[in-house]
Amino acid sequence: MKAKNPITQFGELFERAKAAGEPGDVTRCALATAGSDGAPAVRMVLLKGFDEHGFVFYTNYGSRKALELEENPRAALCFHWLSIEEQVRVEGPVARVSEAESDAYWAGRSRLSRLGAWASKQSQPLGSRGELLRRFAEAELRYPVRPVPRPAFWGGYRLEPERIEFWSGKAHRLHDRRVYTRREGGWSVARLFP
Ligand SMILES: Cc1cc2nc3c(=O)[nH]c(=O)nc-3n(C[C@H](O)[C@H](O)[C@H](O)COP(=O)(O)O)c2cc1C
Repeated sequence: MKAKNPITQFGELFERAKAAGEPGDVTRCALATAGSDGAPAVRMVLLKGFDEHGFVFYTNYGSRKALELEENPRAALCFHWLSIEEQVRVEGPVARVSEAESDAYWAGRSRLSRLGAWASKQSQPLGSRGELLRRFAEAELRYPVRPVPRPAFWGGYRLEPERIEFWSGKAHRLHDRRVYTRREGGWSVARLFP
């Protein structure tokens, strides 16, 4: 059986969730990583792009997640769209996107969120909220009129999917699960018990 491309299917679900009025941001997903100690950690991120090459999110390259990805460049994403009762799990290796790609995404960010990126030493201990606000004000003073440049410590990652699983909620807990596994030149598909 020829498997329908799972990235295309992901795109269709994403559009369906949007059209169904998914509450909050339809791009939100949980990102799981584990450093060299193997202990998993999970947090929400926003998906900023997806295609055949992978799923892209942006973050601080000094954050805990980034340090874990340096140690162990593999991750998993989990999307849950309540409005359409669908879950999608994506797993695979992760690599930084190119500088040019991070620059292109940065160019579309608002001035305030750019300043926020400069202000945050993400995942480092913070003495007080005042310190964060002070760092934001300092960034504002540093870039009063000029466009705020992208910090070298901030950019994107791309998860290249090797496994994508779709879970569709059905009656009587008889949910539908289909798992796609990447193989030479395409994908194989199998069903799983719910
Ligand atoms: C809905 C939602 C979306 C988020 N999106 C991002 C994101 O795209 N990038 C990011 O670095 N942090 C994002 N965060 C914050 C992360 O969940 C997390 O607190 C932060 O990245 C630090 O994680 P770490 O210490 O594991 O690196 C988001 C939080 C929420 C609740």
